[in-house]
Amino acid sequence: MTLRYNALLIAGLSVLTCKTWAVVDVNMEDRVDVSLKGQAEISCIYTLMEPAKMIVWFTKSPGRDQSRRRIYYYDNQSEIIDEGSEYAGRINFTHSHEPQNARGSALLIIDNVQLSDQKEYMCTVHDVSTDSGEGHTRLQIFNSPSLPVIEGIHMGISVTAEEPSKVAHCKVDDGYPRPNITWYKDRFPLQQSDNEVKISESETTKANGLFTVESDLYIKAQRTDKDAFFYCEVKYFVPGGVRMTESKEINIIVHYPTTEVTMYVNPPDRHIKEGDTVEIRCEGNGNPQPVFTFTHKGEELSADNEMLLLENVERSDSGTFVCQSYDFDAGIDTEDSINITVHYLDQIVVTPEETVLNQGEDLALTCNALSSLPTLTAWYKDGTRLVERHVLELHNASYATAGLYKCEVTVPSLPELQQQKSVQISVQGKPKIIEEIAVGPVNKADRSFNLTCYAEGYPFPTITWTLSDQRTGLPVPVPEAENQKTDTGILSMISVRAMSELTAKCSAANELGTEDVSRKIEAFAHVTTTTTQATSTKGTGLTVPPKQSRTGGGSGVVIAVIIICLLLIAILGSVLYFLYKKGKLPCGRSGKQDFTKEKASKDDIVMEMKSGKSEEAVLLQGVNGDKKSPTE
Ligand SMILES: *[C@@H]1O[C@H](CO)[C@@H](O)[C@H](O)[C@H]1NC(C)=O
Ligand SMILES: *[C@@H]1O[C@H](CO)[C@@H](O)[C@H](O)[C@H]1NC(C)=O
Ligand SMILES: *[C@@H]1O[C@H](CO)[C@@H](O)[C@H](O)[C@H]1NC(C)=O
Ligand SMILES: *[C@@H]1O[C@H](CO)[C@@H](O)[C@H](O)[C@H]1NC(C)=O
Ligand SMILES: *[C@@H]1O[C@H](CO)[C@@H](O)[C@H](O)[C@H]1NC(C)=O
Ligand SMILES: *[C@@H]1O[C@H](CO)[C@@H](O)[C@H](O)[C@H]1NC(C)=O
Repeated sequence: MTLRYNALLIAGLSVLTCKTWAVVDVNMEDRVDVSLKGQAEISCIYTLMEPAKMIVWFTKSPGRDQSRRRIYYYDNQSEIIDEGSEYAGRINFTHSHEPQNARGSALLIIDNVQLSDQKEYMCTVHDVSTDSGEGHTRLQIFNSPSLPVIEGIHMGISVTAEEPSKVAHCKVDDGYPRPNITWYKDRFPLQQSDNEVKISESETTKANGLFTVESDLYIKAQRTDKDAFFYCEVKYFVPGGVRMTESKEINIIVHYPTTEVTMYVNPPDRHIKEGDTVEIRCEGNGNPQPVFTFTHKGEELSADNEMLLLENVERSDSGTFVCQSYDFDAGIDTEDSINITVHYLDQIVVTPEETVLNQGEDLALTCNALSSLPTLTAWYKDGTRLVERHVLELHNASYATAGLYKCEVTVPSLPELQQQKSVQISVQGKPKIIEEIAVGPVNKADRSFNLTCYAEGYPFPTITWTLSDQRTGLPVPVPEAENQKTDTGILSMISVRAMSELTAKCSAANELGTEDVSRKIEAFAHVTTTTTQATSTKGTGLTVPPKQSRTGGGSGVVIAVIIICLLLIAILGSVLYFLYKKGKLPCGRSGKQDFTKEKASKDDIVMEMKSGKSEEAVLLQGVNGDKKSPTE
């Protein structure tokens, strides 16, 4: 490059020389820049009153051979273009003169400029008196290089290497003049320095004369370089200036030793309970990760290098876990440890476990479960929370005390830990019939209905049913009973066909006593019409007055019934009186059972009954003005 400056200097000097010594004043630019394959125009301006008598263009190649070569000759008789093979078809010459300005110009045009055109061009102008002047122009060719291509080293670079290691290669093609490569790390240019950075550059000239420049970057890597980015920048000349382009950025892999390891549980901040799967990880601050060894209570555990998976942990897995690593390159031994607590909640122990109480007795039930965490204990019966502590005190036991008690232990800080246990408490006593014989709805298809009887007592009573025909007093075969145990007693049910009027007896017995209940079940059927005349037909059906309130069959019917009733009261007053005298008509009795009268439609089966521990039977009057006794 200094050569070029020298050339420029010489050119400048020669221009000066010309101006001093020659008579003809010739002016030319020192340098003309042109892109490869472009068009170059080199002009030569002279000062003369009359047109030049002779114009000659020469070229002079750089280098040793300083001889000139003529490429153009002009005088008033001839014009010769010596284009030779070098400029064949690519050069044109023109010249002109402006007498009013006493100025002439000669122009050299080179098309499709080649690298070989980069030389010095001289223009010699002679006037009529054979005085002459000469000018020089150097033609400078430019070609913009390709974009730089960077390639990183895929291997890791160790910070422990003694010499700088190669980290990247940069290449740029087809530049002219020779482009320069500069390396950058994080936007700061890198310069060759003794031990830290080494840059090795090479250039090749292709057959076409263009330059390929390659550069290798070597650095002594540091731990922080793992986050650094590197790139190369190419600077090249263009006509009239300098330009630059940058490569992509690359990262490098830095290898550095592990000086510290950290152990952690994944996910963190979580209570671990028995049965859980626990992931323990170990992480070194080096790259790559070293080989880890996990130990627990002095025993080596098999792990997937940095991860230790503990499945289905038990409380015995609690304790300190140690992770160790040894960096072979750096010879550094490191370790970390972590304490793990596996929480638990044991099975509940309830004392006493099962109990039979006498009536009036007291009992304290204790519920305990061992846990590694604070617990909450609560007692429940039939889904209701009784107390929120370990001990449940039962006072003055009665049948109502009997039942299934549930103790529940929970761990507020670890809700998945929870235990529960039930305990059966029985209260001794002779049977007590709680629900007297109840009659279910009648199945219209087969005229059957269900009789139920519920008796409390412990030991659980056995229930026996007896059925007898009311009229004959003879026993009726009893269908098989369905017995159902509850917390405190037995619910028994039989399914009876309504063939005649019956007396049903339910008797409950255990070692401590017996209790009986009986009930008369009267059966009759009604046939009613909506006409003024009501007839009663004795049937074998039973009717059950449903407990639901009556449902009107229509207000029209009701009005008709009322009218009929009023009429019948007057007409049949004597009949009622007669019945009353016979004592068969029930009069406004009060009883436990609330009987309801129901208007039945023609085909309804109606059953009436009366229950009670007494043997009393109360017959219900039919509705709709039926004044006849069903037994009549
Ligand atoms: C051309 O030049 C010759 C001498 O070289 C001269 O005799 C002649 O007059 C010139 N012709 C013109 C037209 O200038
Ligand atoms: C330039 O020169 C070429 C031959 O060298 C010729 O064909 C062309 O016409 C010339 N162009 C001009 C503008 O003089
Ligand atoms: C390239 O580097 C050389 C030497 O430092 C310098 O002379 C030249 O001007 C540079 N080229 C560019 C395009 O900057
Ligand atoms: C783990 O537990 C041991 C003893 O129980 C204690 O000395 C040590 O400091 C604990 N380590 C951590 C990391 O908590
Ligand atoms: C125990 O209960 C019975 C019947 O429920 C009651 O008569 C008696 O007074 C109660 N005794 C006490 C000490 O509460
Ligand atoms: C009587 O009870 C049995 C068994 O629970 C049931 O299938 C049947 O429908 C009941 N009969 C009537 C009339 O409700």
